[in-house]
Amino acid sequence: QQARAAVDPAFVVAPVGRRLFGSFVEHMGRCVYTGIYEPGHPSADDDGFRGDVLDLVRELGVTTVRYPGGNFVSGYRWEDGVGPAERRPTRLDPAWRTVETNAFGLDEFVRWAARAGVEPMMAVNLGTRGVQEALDLLEYANHPGGTTLSDLRVAHGSPQPHGIRLWCLGNEMDGPWQLGHKTAQEYGRLAAETARAMRQLDPDLELVACGSSSRDMPTFGAWEATVLEHAHDVVDYVSAHAYYQLHGDDRASFLASSVDMDRFIDQVVATVDHVGARLGSDRRIDISFDEWNVWYLQEWQAQEVAPTSEWQVAPRRSEDAYTVLDAVVVGSLLITLLRHADRVTAASQAQLVNTLSLIRTEPGGPAWRQATFHPFALTARHATGTVLDLRLTAPALTTQRYGEVPVLDAVATHDVDERRLTVLVVNRHPSEPVALTTGLRGFGGGTLLEAVVLTDDDLTATNTQDDPHRVEPREHPHAAVVDGELVAQLPPASWSMFVLQ
Ligand code: AHR
Repeated sequence: QQARAAVDPAFVVAPVGRRLFGSFVEHMGRCVYTGIYEPGHPSADDDGFRGDVLDLVRELGVTTVRYPGGNFVSGYRWEDGVGPAERRPTRLDPAWRTVETNAFGLDEFVRWAARAGVEPMMAVNLGTRGVQEALDLLEYANHPGGTTLSDLRVAHGSPQPHGIRLWCLGNEMDGPWQLGHKTAQEYGRLAAETARAMRQLDPDLELVACGSSSRDMPTFGAWEATVLEHAHDVVDYVSAHAYYQLHGDDRASFLASSVDMDRFIDQVVATVDHVGARLGSDRRIDISFDEWNVWYLQEWQAQEVAPTSEWQVAPRRSEDAYTVLDAVVVGSLLITLLRHADRVTAASQAQLVNTLSLIRTEPGGPAWRQATFHPFALTARHATGTVLDLRLTAPALTTQRYGEVPVLDAVATHDVDERRLTVLVVNRHPSEPVALTTGLRGFGGGTLLEAVVLTDDDLTATNTQDDPHRVEPREHPHAAVVDGELVAQLPPASWSMFVLQ
């Protein structure tokens, strides 16, 4: 199969917002406990933060981290997680049926985020709580001092305000599984009132209203419209969440998952702009795609139907071992987010460690990179500057779930300061290679600096504790610049990255 593409430095879509490379730390499974935080681990610092995990987080290039949930936040009392460790209460977390010790909370998270070099993104509980608790949390976190709550933070060892700018107004409030689940009317009012009140304390906040938990939700579209009827003037973002998985052996549909993400984004943008038009507003509301990943959700839900487990502290939950195939899909989801960089200006891969994660750890043992770590890290490192509209002509691939889709998914970014053009491409075909020729108009010929590919004869291969380097990108076997064009042979089910100057 043959495909053609063209890039031109003039085809600018939008700057690459660095917040696109966010991730998520939820009190779920072992993401926090024995994930980022494990006092007594050989690599742990004085705060109990695992040094091996911090090193991998920095290597990953993550820019923001959303915290503390997720479903967890909808029953969370933030004040349980601050102050002297011995006085913190132990609670039941109904969202994940676990015991929460509260040994790790807001102040630890902000300290960890500073050490990891990431921007914290905080969620408030709008499930079982409301405006006052959100205000209290904001005052504790961001007010410099001189009030009871802000002085408490100072007394707890954080003299400087945390300065958290980005806040989620609850989590997945459209989902019947959510503690304190609400109708769009109920949530829209609460989100607007909470946003207004939070802005009265701090007008510079950036606020995210809950959109739909997936494009399959029966309320999708109507939910966003109703919520924004209430909150359009006081929020900056509406969220979107999406998880994909391989169903049976339908690899073609799975490899085309980003088609769904693409349509999801287009439909949210259309809905948001429709509300703006109805309200006569010029305000632009962007998308915070603040949960996305591959997640073997059906398998997880099947286990959850009959929860047999005892209530435990930090049990193993959804520790999916990601395959080469999963990593290729993660690469294409990142391509899609980048292609929409004009309206998707924040995103969080879910989650960072152990639970649906990029990084795995063993308690007391090693930390290692999952297969999905690699496309994330390389994209975060090399997709800089501005997104270019890569014009692609590719044959169609027929899929069961999405009908006919282009066999390739691709995007280009251009960093003028670094004089760097990066082209990212996924071949969605499960069994056939595709020859791609990319015209480099306006790039003066182009020199190939780096070309890597992620694929494998065994698409089910994973990285494990015993074989942590089994899945890694390797040098592209068939890529060159010929007569001012980038010519590459893309293996079936592969993710490729080309860096040119
Ligand atoms: O990331 C795992 C869970 O998925 C989150 O807690 C929830 O928001 C979503 O349903």
